[in-house]
Parts: sequence; structure tokens; C-alpha cells
Amino acid sequence: MSNLVIVGAQWGDEGKGKVIDVLSEEADVLVRFQGGHNAGHTVIADGQEFIFHLIPSGLLHEGKIGLIGNGVVIDPEALLEEMGRLSERGIDVQRAVKISDQAHVIFPYHKQLDLLEESVRAGRIGTSGRGIGPCYADKTARCGIRVADLCDAAAFAKKLRQNVTEKNRLFQALYGKPPVSYEELLERYTGYAKRLAPHVVNGVRFLREAIAQGKRLLFEGAQGTLLDVDHGTYPYVTSSNATAGGACTGSGVPPTAIDRVIGVVKAYTTRVGEGPFPTEFPPDLMERIRTKGKEFGATTGRARRCGWFDAVVARHAVWVNGCAAIAVTKLDVLDEMETIQICTSYRDGARPVEEFPSSADVLSRCQPVYESWPGWQADTGDAGRFEELPPEAQRYLKRLESLLGVPICLISTGSKREQAFKIGCW
Ligand code: GDP
Ligand code: IMO
Ligand code: MG
Repeated sequence: MSNLVIVGAQWGDEGKGKVIDVLSEEADVLVRFQGGHNAGHTVIADGQEFIFHLIPSGLLHEGKIGLIGNGVVIDPEALLEEMGRLSERGIDVQRAVKISDQAHVIFPYHKQLDLLEESVRAGRIGTSGRGIGPCYADKTARCGIRVADLCDAAAFAKKLRQNVTEKNRLFQALYGKPPVSYEELLERYTGYAKRLAPHVVNGVRFLREAIAQGKRLLFEGAQGTLLDVDHGTYPYVTSSNATAGGACTGSGVPPTAIDRVIGVVKAYTTRVGEGPFPTEFPPDLMERIRTKGKEFGATTGRARRCGWFDAVVARHAVWVNGCAAIAVTKLDVLDEMETIQICTSYRDGARPVEEFPSSADVLSRCQPVYESWPGWQADTGDAGRFEELPPEAQRYLKRLESLLGVPICLISTGSKREQAFKIGCW
């Protein structure tokens, strides 16, 4: 197996960063294919914490190349800051980071719009406030500015003027806000373009040549399946395709170049922001797991909502992504639990629901149907093999496999790089 896609199989923050770090040892090129700096992927290696937002999480391994694909929306300021931070810590970003010329660029007016839209929206989404949705909206409306435009002075000046004129109409007429300055943005973004230009490539060609040279590709999903704009809990989602199909559209490789998809799940569930969440804990359990699991956002610091493992959600994710296997993280967070619940189906009133509902309104009415499993009440942090886990933990994981219909290929029992073992991922 050569080319692997890693996706979140819940509502994001499943521990993709850690899993990708572990698996990218065997990859040559790491590809981010969607999302933007709304993502926060944490890797803890050699006692140091790294949080990746736009740059692929596998770059701590020497000699790897990371491509930010066409499906990503890039805030140049955030990217340059992230490159600067990694460079200070000894990562050769000048060599390792490539940027697709077809990726779209986030401007301050996108961020302003994101915040304004949230403030007037009847049902808040709880976005990260990074301008992600408005930038993708411009992309789909065919007025977006891409990296290639940014690096072409004449094209950039023209497109920026058109966009600023249009956005200022909105700011003034609809929101009663002062206009943004075209000149200021032109100067600032021309400066970013100069610094980013050495990294810019034709992403499609770059990956085609990598494949022709026999390089192994690892595609890194951001967010998670339930935040996917099509397959998630719409409208409480992000604005891109976080599912495996996004790896093709967001990078330019054909589906036939993908060999295997792995979904990452936590041993329980979390979500940040608004929207239905059937297995959400009551306050006492919420506090206990949030504290033990350090469930605070890597990007915004917001407290994450926590709940039991939801097999209806994960089954949906296994299907829409075509997961051959799943990686289970944060098993250790359940170490002290006396009993553990797994949601196996829902009820909508008296009606049993096995299939993940297409509508967030229906989902918000659904009540989870649980089965109870005994906890193991023992430390799993040092386990190096499946057989070294307590018998109750083994049974819990076996039950997840049977409910999802796919094997577990990696288990993580702590935040450090060493606290994970593979059972065959590539
Ligand atoms: P991502 O967005 O999917 O990459 O996940 P985040 O990095 O946002 O959130 C996952 C959090 O869990 C991070 O703080 C990780 O350091 C931490 N983490 C990952 N795997 C484990 C694990 O197995 N056990 C524990 N306790 N923490 C973990
Ligand atoms: P990673 O890659 C968890 C959520 C936001 C909000 C919704 C829309 O670290 O798993 P957006 O700013 O994208 O328009 O917000 O999506 N969200 C995430 N939740 N992990 C993420 O990324 C997320 N990225 C966005 O909280 O509910
Ligand atoms: Mg995260």
C-alpha cells in the first residue's frame, strides 16, 4: 500500500495530528487537502508540543515534504507565522513546505464577515472566526483570489480591487461598518506574496511527479466527517469536504491513486461549537472527562463538548470515507471509569433509528440507545501491544470493531509519540 488518506471520523480533534505524526515516518510527501487555520493538530515529540494549523503534521520527521493542496484556504499571515515558529524549532521549512498555486487566499475581510455573519445568524454555528466560510463562499462564487493570482502583481491588483469594492458595499450597506482599505491590503499582501513565492508549485504536477517517482503519499484531513459540508451535521459544519473524497478534489490526484483510508476516532466523542450531539455527557461526567482528556481547543482554546462513543456516527464515517480501518485515540482518558457506554443506535420518539439522519433537526431529536461495558480501572499509558491492555479494554475495543465492521489499526493511550502502537496501517 503506498498512498494513504487519514480523516477524522467524528467532529474533529480526534487526534489526527498524533496519528499522522506516527504514520508519516513511512511516508515521503504529506498533503493537506482542505480546511484552513481553523484546524489545530497537536503532536508531542521529545517532550515538546507542536501545534500545526496549515502545515502538514508529519514534518517533524526529517526529509519529508509537505504540500498545502488546492483545497486548502490559506491565511498568509497565519502560514508565515507557523513557518516561523517551526523554523525556530529547527524544522527546515524553506525546503519542506510547498504550496499549491490553486489554493485560495484568506483576507481580513473574510474574517470580518465570518464574525459579522455569526453575530446576525439566527442559529449560531460557533465558527472558529478565522474567515474560513466566507473564503470558501468566494471560491464557490468564483470571485476568490488564488495563490497564483497573489503572485502575479497585475492580476492581484485587479482582483483585489474588485473584491474590496464588492465587500465594502456589503460592509457599509448591510452592516453599517467602515470600508476596508484596498491600498493597505495591496501593500500587505504583496509583501506576503514575496515571502511565499519560493514555496509555490503547481500542486497537480508536483504530486503526479511524486507518484511517478514511487514516493509514498499521506493525505491529512482536517476537521472530521461530521463537520464535512455535505456529509456532516449541516449547517453546523465547516465549509469544506473533510471526508476522503476531499483528498482527490483538494489535491488533484485521482481516486485510483488512493490505496487506503484510515479514520481516526477518540475512544469517546467530542465536538466544539454548536449543533446536535446525541451522546453529550451530563455536567458531572462532562467535567470529569474534559479535565482528564484536556479537552480544550488547540486553535481557539474553547472548551470541547464531550460525550460517549457514538457508533452510529462512526459507522456513517466508515462508510462515506471507505475506511479500511480505524485508529482509536485517547483510550487512557477512560482508564478510571467504572462503566463505559457505547451508543449503538438512536430513537426518534418510539421510532428506532439505525441510519445516521441526513438532517440536523432530526438528529437533535434523537435519543441515544446505549449498551454498558465494564471499565478497566487501570493505567493503559504504557501498553505497547494489544495483549498488554487490560481485558476489559480489549473487550471494549473489540466491540467497537464489531459495531463498525472494520479492524482497529492503531491504538493511542497517551499524548506522547511513543504512546501508540500499530497493528498494521500501511
Ligand atoms: P486533531 O485536530 O485531530 O489533530 O486533534 P487535536 O490535536 O486538536 O486534539 C487532540 C488532543 O489530544 C491533543 O491535545 C493531543 O495531544 C491529545 N492526544 C492525542 N492522542 C492522545 C491519547 O491517546 N491520549 C491522550 N490523553 N491525549 C491524546
Ligand atoms: P481539527 O482539524 C474541531 C468547527 C468549529 C465550528 C464549525 C465551523 O483540529 O479537527 P469554521 O471556523 O470551520 O467555519 O467553524 O467547525 N471546527 C472544528 N472543530 N476541530 C477542528 O479542526 C475544527 N475546525 C472547525 O468549531 O463548530
Ligand atoms: Mg484539532
